[in-house]
Amino acid sequence: MFASVITVLVYFTVSSFATNVEGYKPVIQKTVEAFFIDRSDTIYPGPCEVLIPSIRQSKICKRHPGLSNILQLAKNQAITACEDTFQYDRWNCSLVYNQKRRRSVFNKIYRETAFIYALVAASITHAVAKACSSGDLERCSCMGTLRNSSWQIRGCGDDFKYGKKLTKNFLDFKHAGTDQIAEMLKQDVNIGIDVIGEQLKEVCKCHGFSGSCTTKTCWKKLGPFSSAMGLLKKHYHHAIKTKLMNYTTKRAIAPKVRRKMESVKKNLLYFQKTPNLCVRTKGRVCKDRHNCVTLCCGRGYEVQQRSVKRRCRCKMVDCCVVKCDTCVEETDYFVCK
Ligand SMILES: *[C@@H]1O[C@H](CO)[C@@H](O)[C@H](O)[C@H]1NC(C)=O
Ligand SMILES: *[C@@H]1O[C@H](CO)[C@@H](O)[C@H](O)[C@H]1NC(C)=O
Ligand SMILES: *[C@@H]1O[C@H](CO)[C@@H](O)[C@H](O)[C@H]1NC(C)=O
Repeated sequence: MFASVITVLVYFTVSSFATNVEGYKPVIQKTVEAFFIDRSDTIYPGPCEVLIPSIRQSKICKRHPGLSNILQLAKNQAITACEDTFQYDRWNCSLVYNQKRRRSVFNKIYRETAFIYALVAASITHAVAKACSSGDLERCSCMGTLRNSSWQIRGCGDDFKYGKKLTKNFLDFKHAGTDQIAEMLKQDVNIGIDVIGEQLKEVCKCHGFSGSCTTKTCWKKLGPFSSAMGLLKKHYHHAIKTKLMNYTTKRAIAPKVRRKMESVKKNLLYFQKTPNLCVRTKGRVCKDRHNCVTLCCGRGYEVQQRSVKRRCRCKMVDCCVVKCDTCVEETDYFVCK
């Protein structure tokens, strides 16, 4: 009870933008925000644990033993991948843009917000698909079995299709609404899911005399989640700003707007320009001098030194043990003024 009160408060202070006319926020928004806002490993009451679930989400988690662990993994993997990928960017996956005005990425739908929707959806899809192939999620293991006449094709794949279905179901696409905000958020989520689909590779193994391939086992395999981040980040940079009609009054979507949205289906969409991030990059560490030019917003940078411990002078000892010394080196690093 206590936890739920706190969460409700967070939702109201951090993100009051996109409640619809009735003041009700769809599950898709609550879920993505819950995944991104709480960076701790808090276990919430109910069967989903990673958040306070809706009634439908509760049922989904009950129906899939092990899903709560997968969701927790998806959440951590999304945050970690985001912070790694954006470590040297002006926006570094922080929840708040601007300390003074405490503007959150969820106050409006910014480029970053659109990215977060794609990121969270991609991460859930990936985690579920992986769990299918590892057998951690009973209802879907080995659904990807294929057969054709010339080869016997067997094998468990990372079940992307199931991941996609479960992700949309968990984010409650059906009840997300059909207004402009809903359409936009659904598109952003779909793009995240599709990024995972694009990572699927068919892997085959031949069996038979000296590789004659009389039997072949094939399966679809996903790479690590981090390998999807490059594509997701590309989508972040190519996101398209669209106009929000009747933002304060109605969320109804005009046919003209819908047609325009159809034509940009392949891009992330957002409504509001990102607030100035330059006021927050003081003290940030750049990757290199070149990166400082953008990260420090033209204010320049200081060169500082730190000692870095490294393994060095490694030698093989007694056949199989590698022994190394520890060397301390001074390296430069660059800090925004
Ligand atoms: C059977 O599957 C393999 C691998 O996917 C493919 O290369 C081959 O063309 C398929 N054969 C038929 C008859 O569909
Ligand atoms: C905005 O809302 C008003 C009243 O609800 C409506 O008359 C008008 O057509 C809407 N405008 C757009 C661009 O959808
Ligand atoms: C992101 O940047 C902010 C503002 O400069 C800083 O306070 C925060 O620690 C950074 N977060 C990460 C994960 O680096």
